[in-house]
Amino acid sequence: MSDWISFYDFKHSVIYVNARHRDVHYRTIAEDIRAYVPSPTAQVLDYGCGEAASSDLLAAAGSHLTLVEAAPNVRAALAARYAGNPKISVFTPEEAAAQPAGSFDLIVLHSVAQYLTAAELDRLLGIFRRLLKADGMLIIGDIVPPKLAAPAAALALLRFAAANGFFFAAVLGLMRIFVSDYLRLKKTFGLSHYDEAAMLAKLKAAGYAATRATRNIGHNPWRMTFLARPA
Ligand SMILES: C[S@@+](CC[C@H](N)C(=O)[O-])C[C@H]1O[C@@H](n2cnc3c(N)ncnc32)[C@H](O)[C@@H]1O
Repeated sequence: MSDWISFYDFKHSVIYVNARHRDVHYRTIAEDIRAYVPSPTAQVLDYGCGEAASSDLLAAAGSHLTLVEAAPNVRAALAARYAGNPKISVFTPEEAAAQPAGSFDLIVLHSVAQYLTAAELDRLLGIFRRLLKADGMLIIGDIVPPKLAAPAAALALLRFAAANGFFFAAVLGLMRIFVSDYLRLKKTFGLSHYDEAAMLAKLKAAGYAATRATRNIGHNPWRMTFLARPA
């Protein structure tokens, strides 16, 4: 397991400053992604979905939602949470990669690419290319640009918190991040950053025709979302 997957595999209060933050975060991205579901018959894949606390909202917009999570404890919690929802399956990355070609209308990779090396992302783009229907779409969200990423992330969190009633918890949460494993892992393994041109070139090389969406999915407007279709 990569160190970032291990980091995400246990209950921690570093990324989400409290339960309200986690719930509002997942509701916001589920609502944003839902707008891209092309029809009520759509097969949707959310890869690296994390705790995905609002996936029932997303599943309701299409025919079936496959959640893919590499972290085993998070995956077990997802399976338990959605056991009663026949529109949601929970897969390992290997199970997802083994699905037949052309299985999905919409594939989402949100806030995951920064934890992958460039080669790992290329490999995933190839898998997604095979799994997408010819008229399907891949959404790559929360791409972190190279400049001023940390201050932008802090400011975006504080604004999101102020708008959703957890501002003081967010201030404390930011202080906790400074003494957390997140910064140690970031220093050791780094995060992958792409500017708009680099991500568009990467998607083109992987066989997609892509554009940058007018706004990012989720709460951080300084990060970028890309919409890619098989070329
Ligand atoms: C910030 S969370 C994103 C969760 C969710 N998509 C969201 O937007 O809130 C990052 C996710 O990336 C996953 N991840 C990190 N490194 C990975 C890797 N090498 N392969 C697959 N998933 C990975 C983690 O397990 C975690 O679920």
